[in-house]
Amino acid sequence: MSAPSPRLVVVSNRIGDPRKPAAGGLAVALGNVLASRGGVWFGWSGKVVADGAPGAGKLHYQRAGAVQLVTIDLSEQDFEDYYCGYSNRALWPAFHYRLDLADFAAGYFAGYQRVNRLLARKLATLLQPDDVIWVHDYHLIPLADELRALGCRQRIGFFLHVPLPPPPILAAIPGHEWLMRSFFAYDLVGLQTQADVDHFGRFVQEEAGAVSLGDGVFEALGRQVLARSFPIGIDVEEFRDLAGSEESRQTEAMLRKQYGHRRLLVGVDRLDYSKGLPRRFRAIQDLLENYPENLQSATLIQIASPSRETLSAYTDLRDELEGLAGKINGEFGELDWLPIRYLHRTWARRRLPALYRCSRVALVTPLRDGMNLVAKEYVAMQNEADPGVLVLSRFAGAAEQMREALLVNPYDIPATAQAIQRALRMPLAERRERHAALLRQITEHDVHEWSRNFLDALATVKTRLRAEIQ
Ligand code: G6P
Repeated sequence: MSAPSPRLVVVSNRIGDPRKPAAGGLAVALGNVLASRGGVWFGWSGKVVADGAPGAGKLHYQRAGAVQLVTIDLSEQDFEDYYCGYSNRALWPAFHYRLDLADFAAGYFAGYQRVNRLLARKLATLLQPDDVIWVHDYHLIPLADELRALGCRQRIGFFLHVPLPPPPILAAIPGHEWLMRSFFAYDLVGLQTQADVDHFGRFVQEEAGAVSLGDGVFEALGRQVLARSFPIGIDVEEFRDLAGSEESRQTEAMLRKQYGHRRLLVGVDRLDYSKGLPRRFRAIQDLLENYPENLQSATLIQIASPSRETLSAYTDLRDELEGLAGKINGEFGELDWLPIRYLHRTWARRRLPALYRCSRVALVTPLRDGMNLVAKEYVAMQNEADPGVLVLSRFAGAAEQMREALLVNPYDIPATAQAIQRALRMPLAERRERHAALLRQITEHDVHEWSRNFLDALATVKTRLRAEIQ
């Protein structure tokens, strides 16, 4: 009889509230993993309370099936410095290759350290000696270091959902030496792509004097860490099941009635500058100018869910997109047709399958993205006999696996328009061939394989490292 699996403790800044639509790929993926395996999910409640308010720092407990949700509110100051500040004004832009947008104010860095220390202290009270701890994303890079300082000796793994840029960009982050040290408190660091792993290896060797011991293991600062790529996937069945809901069927019927005689394209993103939305709209403009058969026909439904709205980079982007959509619709639209349907709101996840099924082309054209699960969800929902075409940015992590998509450079607007036109005109046989290969890929490498591979690697690396270090 095999030993029972140790308890899994997942830690992420954003945790999925099972009663609400999840914002972003991370919460969806972790929700899927925890729902099938059970465990504890610890993170921010999503609430902000006044500084020093009574009850601030208190843990909230909630049960969702096999998952125990444990959350904590953030004070206004912590929200500003740790979440808005260091996480989303410094690390998010820098990790997405946008140093021009990064703000490295000292107060942000102090807030980031403070909140990671606070979370570690709270988490330590919940831990059992045999727990396996899995920390997620850029908000929490120093968490293991803080846990180790409190004496935690459990296996701790980290997975970065966003890209890790090359060394010259990382080296521009003030305090990057400290960030680098933080990675060495983990037993395993998981990254989305092989390119990210290469960046990690080069960076720790160039900046932390790490020695490569082979097979992804690096030694520095008296510790070893294994760095490996674990491309995140989706739960294909779970997503397809959503299509069976009444709401999904109604949405599909409505879309077919409204757009049956049009060429429908779809984009679904958080409203984030990494997603390349202005350039996507310009590619639609180019498509209409240079391939006039699309006039009165091609319609992009772009869902842009509101995100991080207290940050000016996000409100500026919203203004830009609204202006662009208005301009393009004003110039090309007719009484009964508009080329861009721009919806600035969060759509219920269960309505997405219908939208994907009815769209002949999906535009997934981020300027930089850790993975992008919309690309995978779109493929999962296609009718195998008459599938739509995925136009995918070569700068999305998904492009490393999804080679049969039409890969584009989103900075090249005419080339993107040309790829969209090719997608719209692609013969059935080619569509089927590409789709079959993509479907095989995403089904074989789904979210369950992702978590299994990560947790297996975490379980084995610890034994090896402990034996070698002690
Ligand atoms: C990306 C990040 C996640 C984050 C999500 C939504 O997917 O990798 O960590 O949760 O965006 O962003 P938010 O700031 O609303 O949590």
